[in-house]
Amino acid sequence: MSELKKSYEKLLKGNQEWVKEKIDMDSSYFENLAKGQSPDYLWIGCADSRVPDNEITGSNPGDIFVHRNIANLVVHTDTNMLSVLQYAVEALHVKHIIVCGHYGCGGVLAAMDRSDKGLVNHWLTNIKEVIYKNKTELQAIADEKERGNRLVELNVIQQVQNLAKTSMVQKAWRNRELEIHGWVFDLHTGKIKDLDAKYDELEDLDDVFKFTMPAYQ
Ligand code: CO
Repeated sequence: MSELKKSYEKLLKGNQEWVKEKIDMDSSYFENLAKGQSPDYLWIGCADSRVPDNEITGSNPGDIFVHRNIANLVVHTDTNMLSVLQYAVEALHVKHIIVCGHYGCGGVLAAMDRSDKGLVNHWLTNIKEVIYKNKTELQAIADEKERGNRLVELNVIQQVQNLAKTSMVQKAWRNRELEIHGWVFDLHTGKIKDLDAKYDELEDLDDVFKFTMPAYQ
């Protein structure tokens, strides 16, 4: 078998083993899985292959509704992310939204570099805005790696704020509890750091971003 075919077949073989493992443990596992989902969490994470939401949180299929993109961004013109957010908040009624970045994020590091990268420039500009907004703090960090790590954190905090600025989240806040959290995953230790950047009510947001809405029916 060629190396290419082998690398491809590996995943399908892995699936067969996983199915067997699950059925051995619980013969009705897939029957139950197929019944439906009611996850408590929406995860907005980086597309990086080393940050798999279920695995690093010890959770299972059905626990977390997921959206992932380069550098875990919440961009207000991204209809893909907004559709995921709307469904998670309005249909699934998730209790928590978690933005999870990770140290050493290639997207964040790429945004610190000024070279022209083609189309992705325009995605990375969202992170450049975070650099611009926090220029003084970042410039005071002499070590480049540490500066990158801090930018990863500041980027997550910005995305938490961006979520709070959406009408979906604000509508939910008028009606029920919903918490938005910012986390960073450390590839070197496997540990998640909670940035304590929680947004859980309209009052956390500046008036500029608050939408006026009729009283919730
Ligand atoms: Co990343």
